[in-house]
Amino acid sequence: MKIGMIGTGYVGLVSSVCLANSGHSLVCIDKRPQIIDSLSKGIPTIYEKDMDSMLATCVKENSISFSTDISSLSDCEIVFLAVGTPSLPNGHADLSQVFSAIDSLLTVLNEQAMIVVRSTVPVGTVKRVRQYLDEKGKEKQMLGFCPEFLREGVAISDFLNPQYLVFACGYKEGQDLLHQVYQPIIDATDNKVRVVKTYSFETAELIKYTINSFLATKITFMNQIAQLAQASDADVGTVIQAISADRRIGELFLNPGPGFGGSCFPKDTIALVKCGITYGVDMSVVEEVNHSNKRHKEYIASWILETLEKNIQVEGKKIAIWGLAFKAGTDDIRDSAAITIVESFFQCNIEVHAHDPKGNENFHTRVNNSHLQLYDDPFDAVKDTDVLVVLTEWQVFRDISPQEVLNLMNGDNPFVFDTRGILPHDKYKELGFQLYKFGL
Ligand code: UDX
Repeated sequence: MKIGMIGTGYVGLVSSVCLANSGHSLVCIDKRPQIIDSLSKGIPTIYEKDMDSMLATCVKENSISFSTDISSLSDCEIVFLAVGTPSLPNGHADLSQVFSAIDSLLTVLNEQAMIVVRSTVPVGTVKRVRQYLDEKGKEKQMLGFCPEFLREGVAISDFLNPQYLVFACGYKEGQDLLHQVYQPIIDATDNKVRVVKTYSFETAELIKYTINSFLATKITFMNQIAQLAQASDADVGTVIQAISADRRIGELFLNPGPGFGGSCFPKDTIALVKCGITYGVDMSVVEEVNHSNKRHKEYIASWILETLEKNIQVEGKKIAIWGLAFKAGTDDIRDSAAITIVESFFQCNIEVHAHDPKGNENFHTRVNNSHLQLYDDPFDAVKDTDVLVVLTEWQVFRDISPQEVLNLMNGDNPFVFDTRGILPHDKYKELGFQLYKFGL
């Protein structure tokens, strides 16, 4: 099937290469010439595992093309909108890119083609798009909503192995067309994919916000339990070992950390609160999740600084940070806890030596401060520092030899704060590190 994609960001590009890899022919549009130029050469513009090889294969096999010219979509049977819906200052989602993409699309698309919103949009948005199309005399143009459930860093794997898919369209024909698009993926997936079809756009929009907000709530709740464990000499790891045996809770998304970040959880939880305001419904649980998560990032910074101040003169010390991305497996630093924590260290006149396997460049763009030195190597980052703080759960940090770290840091008993609980704690302690694991 000839499929169009407007927007080649994290969602649009991953969706496009996966659909192209599954036998479809993809035409991808983006208004940024430099992005289109790079992608046309098979050079990815985002970091995602397996993206390099998949994009190169699709470009070589001509199953994907990139252009800034919207007329390239004129003979597509279905066009997905994967444009950004960032938060406005008031917390509402900015839908301007959705409607401007629709306007451009309507100048070239034939009326038999289906338009599918893929971006995460507030409840009620797709119905507004339907009304917008009708007002323009496009009553016959089929409109669908197909939310994505892709985690950054493993987005290609998530796309090719979906647990569930949601197809919303006012016409069964449109729901079936979406099913047809995904059929190769469904056929190739070993486990059973739950396909949810609905005539209600609002239902599909609410599914997306519910999943993300529920996961954000789960994480935030566990971070509060970890704080309490820390304050009461309990061990949150053992708490998790016990409760995760309960099938009603499950094993995943229980890991305490420095606070959730990324381009989705912070934005989607705020947007859901705004949806509550729009419809006059109390969404105080998810509102508190958002506030608690912000406070939690500050708590982690205070926990580190207060622990240090009990033992050493913090002023002028050098703190090494391993991990700047909002999670392992991505170069994305949007809303990363590292931003809050590093900026708290600057306020104490602390010099920060940081390393992230993929996030250095993005972090430097976001946080440009004379107290910050970035290193391409975790060993160079800890050299001659007094404290090591682990903020992102990259595998490389787990595997590093504690002895090598000790040889590079200052003093015989340097401090280590492991906010993700990933380091081999016994080995570090045996060597004399003063190691603090969040939640222990
Ligand atoms: C999320 C949803 O998982 C995905 O389904 C949706 O489509 C987009 O938003 P993403 O934001 O890429 O994906 O990352 P995710 O893996 O969900 O992690 C989000 C944040 O929660 C990260 O900061 C991560 O470090 C944190 N997290 C996750 C924890 O602190 N503990 C956990 O156990 C899991």
